[in-house]
Amino acid sequence: MNNNTLDFSNEEFANILQKVSAMVLDKYEHLDEIKGFNVSSQEEVEGWFNEPLPRTGKDSFELLDEVKTKVFDSATGNLGKNMYAYVMSGGNQISTVAELLLSTVNQNNTKWHLAPAMTEIEKRVIKWAAEMIDYTSEAGGAMVSGGSEANLAGLTVARNIFFKKFDIKRKGLFGVKPFTVYCSTETHNCVDKSLSLIGIGTDHLRRVKTQNDLTIDVEALENQIKADIEQGFQPFCIVGNAGTVNTGAIDDLNALADIAQKYHLWLHIDGAYGGLASSLPSLKAKYAGLERADSVALDFHKWLYQPFEIGCVLVRNWRIMRDTYYKEADYLATELQENANARLEFNEHYFQLSRNAKAFKAWMSVKAYGFDRIQQMIQKDIDLTNYLIKLVEESSDFELKSKADLAVACFRYKGNLTAEEEITALNQQLIPALEADGRVFITSTKLNGEFVLRACIINHRKTEQSIEYLLDTIRDVAAKL
Ligand SMILES: Cc1ncc(COP(=O)(O)O)c(C=O)c1O
Repeated sequence: MNNNTLDFSNEEFANILQKVSAMVLDKYEHLDEIKGFNVSSQEEVEGWFNEPLPRTGKDSFELLDEVKTKVFDSATGNLGKNMYAYVMSGGNQISTVAELLLSTVNQNNTKWHLAPAMTEIEKRVIKWAAEMIDYTSEAGGAMVSGGSEANLAGLTVARNIFFKKFDIKRKGLFGVKPFTVYCSTETHNCVDKSLSLIGIGTDHLRRVKTQNDLTIDVEALENQIKADIEQGFQPFCIVGNAGTVNTGAIDDLNALADIAQKYHLWLHIDGAYGGLASSLPSLKAKYAGLERADSVALDFHKWLYQPFEIGCVLVRNWRIMRDTYYKEADYLATELQENANARLEFNEHYFQLSRNAKAFKAWMSVKAYGFDRIQQMIQKDIDLTNYLIKLVEESSDFELKSKADLAVACFRYKGNLTAEEEITALNQQLIPALEADGRVFITSTKLNGEFVLRACIINHRKTEQSIEYLLDTIRDVAAKL
């Protein structure tokens, strides 16, 4: 190691990179063996890392060996075929390479001259994202950490732009009528979290009941808006779902857009989970109205198969982003630079100052695989979900609890039980038992109050055999309870 810096000699660094490559390749060579979950005890894992602040450095090869055993080998199997929990995509190899390249050049994607190529790449990926979902070609936006932040950004933009007349950016929310926001009961909790952060408060979120298919009841929505107006509230935003987290339900977005138009409300659409599936010819019609949204949240670490983190917020134009986030500061001025007007400054169009170039991995992935191929993978995930649904329906020991258009299915294992309480208890026991077993990783949710197992399939590596393995493993673990 060179004594005056933190750098290695080129030869040492080459050897380290070679060892890292070997570790990465080893993961792929053993892809089929990757379990859903690898470790059992929190204390054990905590113990691996329980050491005082290291004052002197460790040999990098030994460090990589430590990483291999403590981190790589124990990693939850998001990469592999046995992950069904939450909404976990398997990532992709080109993005692994992109992240290494990105941290090598260490660009700060906040000002054009700090990251010229990365800024233009982010602008381009925003254009592509709009094209993928058939949104306006004028769209502006930003790469963010994920779906939660994309929803927070959309709702922040909504609040600032919708209430420009109140100058909320400067004065805050003091002295204005309570604003009310509308969504279905199936909406992700990041909307509640966002509203508490932006000063609107969760008491002003109206969670409207759903229909049998778990999409928002549009009539109930309109009645709620009317009632709120009568009671002196200021309705301002509808949050539509382009794929709910529980079941992938897609609200009637055109109906929401009509209501938003009628009552002059902002329409924000949470497309974190399902937004990119709107690009599929087989589903296009289901998403009609998405193009009418004022803001859209997308999540590329879901159906663009990106490694964590990368989400994207889209709004109808760049001006909207700037009006929401711009705050001048002498130390950030760049108007003297050549071509200053043509340079898009992300710090003026988003909250963060320093920010990494998340778009780079998405850009490399789309170029390397082509969006057609990515769409094929999305379609494959959906087809495999239908395969799971078919197996569950054909079986005598499982029962299906939700069918949806996207890649999530809810069901219960019942074995040969018939009493409701016993079936619920069995499924509740199954969740920790399956985690302890580790072969597959699946989580639960509640649908209309009923406890169900929930399998989400967003992984281009899954096959019909993986789906069969999931059900067989559940049977096997249940038999041992
Ligand atoms: C519909 C929906 N919205 C928002 C989110 C939150 O996204 P993230 O986990 O990237 O913050 C999710 C995550 O599953 C989701 O499914």
